[in-house]
Amino acid sequence: MTTASPLRHSPPKLEFADVRFCYPTRRTPALDGLSLSVAPGERVAVVGRSGAGKSTLLGLLMRYFDVDAGSVRVDDRDIREFPLVDLRALIGVVSQDTYLFHGTIRENLLLAKPDATDEEIDRAVAAAQVSDFIARLPRGFDSVVGDRGLKLSGGERQRIAIARALLKDAPVLVLDEPTSSIDAANEAEITQTLTELTRGRTTVVIAHRLSTVRDADRIVVMDSGRVVEFGSHPDLLARRGLYAEFVATQTGVPA
Ligand SMILES: Nc1ncnc2c1ncn2[C@@H]1O[C@H](COP(=O)(O)OP(=O)(O)OP(=O)(O)O)[C@@H](O)[C@H]1O
Ligand SMILES: [Mg+2]
Repeated sequence: MTTASPLRHSPPKLEFADVRFCYPTRRTPALDGLSLSVAPGERVAVVGRSGAGKSTLLGLLMRYFDVDAGSVRVDDRDIREFPLVDLRALIGVVSQDTYLFHGTIRENLLLAKPDATDEEIDRAVAAAQVSDFIARLPRGFDSVVGDRGLKLSGGERQRIAIARALLKDAPVLVLDEPTSSIDAANEAEITQTLTELTRGRTTVVIAHRLSTVRDADRIVVMDSGRVVEFGSHPDLLARRGLYAEFVATQTGVPA
């Protein structure tokens, strides 16, 4: 079905406008009047304490749940106006908990791009540094993973998620702690791959690591469901606020 979809393939603008959201099982809101605008092609890093509401941004953008008040907008249109498949087709995700469905590795990758050629798949898994791992499995790409299949480590799943995002080639990218389960030896190269992946896309990187946030166009600090600071790395350091604290814990040097 082809709808007269207004979604473009050039990177769109993203906006969270005065968003309030409370998980149904909670009494305090996860997002409490959060506003954040990301320009087309801009790379914004989001940092903040555990529970600040960072991953909730991703859930609302993907419409795993909807805002209680305010709106999430893509190119100035409320995302609730878009067909869900069109919205999700726009967004590449590498999340904190990568979900692999019960199926082969190839099927899990093809989810991102059903018509991907073998060559495209090979290129994506090579860039995500998961080719050797797949090659060593007894059935290679045909190995069954997921709940009842092969158990993969957090880092292995994350790299498959990166390969998926590479294949999907979407104009918006959300990386939720992309290197959190990847060991130090591989981190630099994976970070490099992800940096290349963000080029020309509207990107939100949720990160705990200084190395992934320092290069962002803008850094946003969240606390208790709101944006409390934003700016460049040097500007935020000079404020001696939450960001300075975050850097101090990362580097061991007091703010
Ligand atoms: N599925 C859920 N159901 C109920 N409450 C949730 C759910 N997911 C998150 N929360 C709560 O919402 C708040 C924000 O959580 P969120 O996952 O957005 O934090 P975060 O900033 O991503 O933290 P972290 O750095 O630990 O990943 C927290 O208080 C959390 O306990
Ligand atoms: Mg999170």
